[in-house]
Amino acid sequence: MKDQIFAFGLGIGTQNKGGDWLEVFYSALRTNVERSTLDVLLESTNYEGDNNTLVLGESDLNRLHMNLLKEGNIEQTKLISRLKASIQPVVLCVLANNEAPSNLAEVYLKLQLISHRLIKPHDTVLDGMFDLLINTAWTSEGPIDIRELADRQLSARIQGHTIEVFSVDKFPKMANFVVPRGVRIGNAARIRLGSYLGEGTTVMHEGFCNFNAGTLGSSMIEGRISAGVVIGEGSDLGAGCSTMGTLSGGGNIVISVGEKCLVGANAGIGISLGDRCTVEAGLYVTAGQKILVHDNNGNQIATVKARELSGKSDLLFIRNSETGTVECHTNKTAIVLNEELHTHN
Ligand SMILES: CC(C)(COP(=O)(O)OP(=O)(O)OC[C@H]1O[C@@H](n2cnc3c(N)ncnc32)[C@H](O)[C@@H]1OP(=O)(O)O)[C@@H](O)C(=O)NCCC(=O)NCCS
Repeated sequence: MKDQIFAFGLGIGTQNKGGDWLEVFYSALRTNVERSTLDVLLESTNYEGDNNTLVLGESDLNRLHMNLLKEGNIEQTKLISRLKASIQPVVLCVLANNEAPSNLAEVYLKLQLISHRLIKPHDTVLDGMFDLLINTAWTSEGPIDIRELADRQLSARIQGHTIEVFSVDKFPKMANFVVPRGVRIGNAARIRLGSYLGEGTTVMHEGFCNFNAGTLGSSMIEGRISAGVVIGEGSDLGAGCSTMGTLSGGGNIVISVGEKCLVGANAGIGISLGDRCTVEAGLYVTAGQKILVHDNNGNQIATVKARELSGKSDLLFIRNSETGTVECHTNKTAIVLNEELHTHN
């Protein structure tokens, strides 16, 4: 067995009536787990290696408690004491390696590793996860399999109360699992589990963040961060803007935004931006668009497809209001614009 494993998580899960997992909330998550911790898991539980998910019984938890205490691991010992009181199943998920997930508990661990900022978007293999996740009603009574919702709603009504359904989705909102340090979120429902919000990020009510995507540092997000899209430190997404996703009808290249960029209000990008780029409010730059490129002195030098400018730095994209042509200029004002916006973060 390896001396270090990719990750493990210990938490509390919810199952449907048939015993299928709906979700797992991990309260202890670790990456690059060292040999000593692995030995404790091997000694205390039925874990025997590889990627494995186990439900821990009372005796497992007692052994874990004892072995962690022997190690002097006070923090984890206290956690085990608390988990022993859980009326829901206690789940141990060990990922010896970072392969594609094989069950729902593994998907939830991977998504939570991202949202806890223990790994960055794209650092873990998520292939096949949609088939493993169950469409769930996220309600005031916790997660409910949608196939069981009508029955639960009737039972609640018979007892004189209403189940509030917040969303019906394969993904829950991130904030019900973790709120990372140093962020503000206007509407928690718009941040899916598996988002990575860097310290100093504000997501206003209009903003949205999908899984395996997010901001690496301080950003003002008032637009959409599509699945897989990563926004660099100091970059802002203006109100209602869009980063083009790959899930429906878009290209298959996941785009990204570098540092200190501004995608203007109601603008959009189908190409990656390098550092210090600005896209004019209302302009959607798609990969195949023909763009008239200007040099530093404002002279037209070439017409290129936008994808050829993908990832390049210090660019300003505008639609010339007199000619209707989409133009690319050297961006001289990006930093000033960003500083103005960040004073209000
Ligand atoms: C593209 C943008 C950055 C340009 O702003 P700017 O750098 O301050 O430039 P200015 O508006 O001062 O314009 C500079 C010159 O270019 C001209 N110009 C600007 N946009 C133009 C356009 N689309 N077509 C033709 N000329 C244009 C101006 O008229 C001005 O001409 P002048 O030098 O002859 O006076 C700005 O219009 C923009 O879209 N900002 C996005 C802000 C935003 O959406 N923030 C998020 C809020 S939620």
